[in-house]
Amino acid sequence: MTTPPERLQSPENRSRLIRHFEQSSIENHNSAWDNLWETDNSDMWDRGKPSPALIDLLEQREDILSPIAANGQRKKILVPGCGKGYDVVMLALHGFDAVGLEISAKGVSTAEEYAKKELQAPQEYNFGSAWAIKSERGSVSFIQGDFFQSDCTKGEKFDVIYDYTFLCALHPNMRAQWASRMADLVFSGGLLVCLEFPLFKEISYPGPPWPLQGVHWNLLAEGGDGILYPPKEDQQVGTGSFERKWYIKPDRSYESGQGTDMLSIYARK
Ligand SMILES: C[S@@+](CC[C@H](N)C(=O)[O-])C[C@H]1O[C@@H](n2cnc3c(N)ncnc32)[C@H](O)[C@@H]1O
Repeated sequence: MTTPPERLQSPENRSRLIRHFEQSSIENHNSAWDNLWETDNSDMWDRGKPSPALIDLLEQREDILSPIAANGQRKKILVPGCGKGYDVVMLALHGFDAVGLEISAKGVSTAEEYAKKELQAPQEYNFGSAWAIKSERGSVSFIQGDFFQSDCTKGEKFDVIYDYTFLCALHPNMRAQWASRMADLVFSGGLLVCLEFPLFKEISYPGPPWPLQGVHWNLLAEGGDGILYPPKEDQQVGTGSFERKWYIKPDRSYESGQGTDMLSIYARK
């Protein structure tokens, strides 16, 4: 199977993204994202294909992540900050009812267009070497909304949530709210799957993408605020709303995180 090249971010694009958010206050970050979509700047982060690490998890570790629940029902999965919807479509092709959430109307229409085309003739990049059709395709839908608004999914909860480059896109001051919204949106016993990126980036560096070394653990397992820089003198260790069940170094990931990305899978208590 041939692996298509990933759309890589140039160093210039990376610093443009950081500068764009430095110029905007945290309360205005939603419109700062919207502005990037409206001005056709999604190439600043878009990798052009679904996550190889998530594909392998779905195809090789059905013991961890199966699209069908014990009662025979298809599982609902949410992808917040879904961008062009590559992972949403790939998850539906693997049997989940997949929902993408995006703050930007342009982002949603771009994702809807992509999904329409892709579902008619799915590209090879949606599947890994262990692909076998085990269940019918699930559904694909997109919601335009703000993840931090309690009614963004109209009260719907999910069996699974997948986060890739959503937490790292948010200012560190928003991390505690990210964790508490995740706890609201996943059913008790449901899973939060995080492809942790960027872990190679020095914790003191600015973002997006904001460095996340140790951040998921602090937020989800310890119930901390996820702000690990500057270091606090008396870091209190508490209890979060999630328990980490698996911590996996994927064989394949995007080139930008290959060798450093980690997949962490947390269960909602
Ligand atoms: C770094 S991009 C990643 C997109 C996608 N996960 C990908 O891998 O291509 C972050 C995305 O989150 C969206 N976003 C930012 N804040 C959001 C919010 N509060 N609610 C929903 N989406 C948001 C942005 O519009 C952007 O598309």
